Amino acid sequence: MAESMKGLHRSHRCTEVSGSNIGQQVTVMGWIQKRRNLGSLIFADLRDRSGLLQIVFDEPKVGSEGFAKAESLRSEYVVAVTGTVAKRTAAVNENLKTGDIEVIAEDIRILSESETPPFPIEEDSQTKEDLRLRYRYLDLRRPDIQRNMMMKSKVSMLLHNFMEQEGFLEIETPILTKSTPEGARDYLVPSRVHPGAFYALPQSPQLFKQLLMCSGYDRYFQIARCFRDEDLRADRQPEFTQVDMEMSFVDVDDVLEINERLLQYVFKEAMGVDVSLPLPRMTWQEAMDRYGSDKPDTRFGMELVNVSDVVEGCGFGVFTGALENGGSVRGLNVKGQGAMPRKKIDKLVEFAKGCGAKGLAYLAVNEDGTYKSSFAKFMEEHTLKALVEKMEGEPGDLLLFAADKNKIVWNVLGAIRLEMGKELGLIDKNKYHFLWVTEFPLLEWSEEENRYMAAHHPFTMPMEEDWHLIDSDPGAVRAKAYDIVLNGTELGGGSVRIHQDDIQEKMLEVLGFTRERAYEQFGFLLNAFKYGVPPHAGLAYGLDRMIMLMVHCDSLRDVIAFPKVKDASCLMTEAPGTVEEKQLEELSLSVKSPDATATLH
Ligand code: AMO
Ligand code: AMP
Repeated sequence: MAESMKGLHRSHRCTEVSGSNIGQQVTVMGWIQKRRNLGSLIFADLRDRSGLLQIVFDEPKVGSEGFAKAESLRSEYVVAVTGTVAKRTAAVNENLKTGDIEVIAEDIRILSESETPPFPIEEDSQTKEDLRLRYRYLDLRRPDIQRNMMMKSKVSMLLHNFMEQEGFLEIETPILTKSTPEGARDYLVPSRVHPGAFYALPQSPQLFKQLLMCSGYDRYFQIARCFRDEDLRADRQPEFTQVDMEMSFVDVDDVLEINERLLQYVFKEAMGVDVSLPLPRMTWQEAMDRYGSDKPDTRFGMELVNVSDVVEGCGFGVFTGALENGGSVRGLNVKGQGAMPRKKIDKLVEFAKGCGAKGLAYLAVNEDGTYKSSFAKFMEEHTLKALVEKMEGEPGDLLLFAADKNKIVWNVLGAIRLEMGKELGLIDKNKYHFLWVTEFPLLEWSEEENRYMAAHHPFTMPMEEDWHLIDSDPGAVRAKAYDIVLNGTELGGGSVRIHQDDIQEKMLEVLGFTRERAYEQFGFLLNAFKYGVPPHAGLAYGLDRMIMLMVHCDSLRDVIAFPKVKDASCLMTEAPGTVEEKQLEELSLSVKSPDATATLH
């Protein structure tokens, strides 16, 4: 029977009780982790979000009624215990913060009983994630996930502190709004009052924060929920949280400078990690050339080498063909892996094909200086020698080559580099390598749409020195856009925005917007820009990603209290769900094939 806590006040959280309380009376409340019955004594571990505390029930101290209650305790019962803190006489547990003390119970109340949970509430759970997510409210009781939630809360507080000190204003922007052009699919909400019209949930507060700059709020920030209907991955959720900011009268360096201090402050205060400034910077071009990625993991080397000049005119058609098609040939030196068995190399070739390559050429430098290679027979000795030299290949090394269009070569070798780095244990998990990647291309060619698309978004400022190329070679125009990368993950990104009519108009034209469509979609922004707009720039971090990296988790699901799974559903609430016919009618909607929705779960 559930008792009331009337008259009781919790004096401490479990691990707030310490040796300094010995001899004092405390009242603690929480969940029963475990009970052990040793005949005349009963031991129970009490758990709350701070950790565990051992409670001892001794009949003469707790009374016969209390002892009977203690005997009835089972895992996850919620109890209140009043007792006296004592030094542990036996079984000191050095792994526990409260391992050298215990509370000798004088009174116990059972505040709530519990059914047997479907899985044990414990650290590093072995339970399948699906089951844990179905019972997320129990999963959230586990200490590791509670630590993640506490870290997120702490970081959020720190961010508020920092931004306040730097003169930023926190301003909310709407959730029911119009489509923002961030490039993903929108989540739509039908309007009841305007049949056939829809709100879009924001993919980011982008347009509103730019409007706030027009309105004179020269430093804005918000911890903002964003929604993107895109394919989910471990580092992508359909709704996620951005730390979003915008500043007026600034250029690239100003935004980077303040954000470096922000990162230094947050990492120091939240985790005691020293981040030394300034953070390294690399242009997008250099990142691609050296790491085959615009978010390179710089915790280890194994950089890409462009060998196009060496293999030009060599006898190997795969290489020369790629060069003739305007591509390149690049290699990776996997140090000391020359003896890699053929089977494993074949797996790498398959992996490369999975990344879009037609193949992967290899050359192992044997200990005696001879080569084992998939292409050596097509090449003359002196070319091979020059190739190995350019790759700094030494006996025992494995050289891997990809030949294709640059984009494919970077993609393939970038992915293999990461795979090899992980497999060979080259990545130090305790390191935090921040990197700014700057000067991204302004536009990206979309094969699907057969046109240029904005690489960041249509309001990103081109670099002045490249603007003259906008008609002749649009793909070569760089943008004042930057990403902050941590250990190979894109933590955040932003740009300087266009504030000049003529540049914005040209940009929209290049992106294929007619004037009418541009005004229909974001005319409010274009109009606002007619009334005095300050130069402005900003950035947004993925807060969930930041926490994921701080707590060394591999999935955003471990740092979001109620996450969605791969098909964007919530296993606990079973959202999305079907709705009553009446609700659809009110919205002037009808579902084309009701059967399809009914089979959702
Ligand atoms: P961007 O689209 O790069 O920029 O997003 C900023 C950061 O948000 C995080 N992020 C995500 N996190 C989890 N799940 C997702 N589906 C997801 N998508 C993005 C990433 C990313 O770096 N308005 C611009 C910012 C600006 O220009 O100021 C924007 O949204 O960490
Ligand atoms: P093939 O002539 O297709 O048998 O290829 C000979 C070798 O070159 C094999 O090891 C292939 O995996 C490799 N190869 C094929 N295409 C490419 C490519 N685009 N880049 C690098 N290696 C390739």
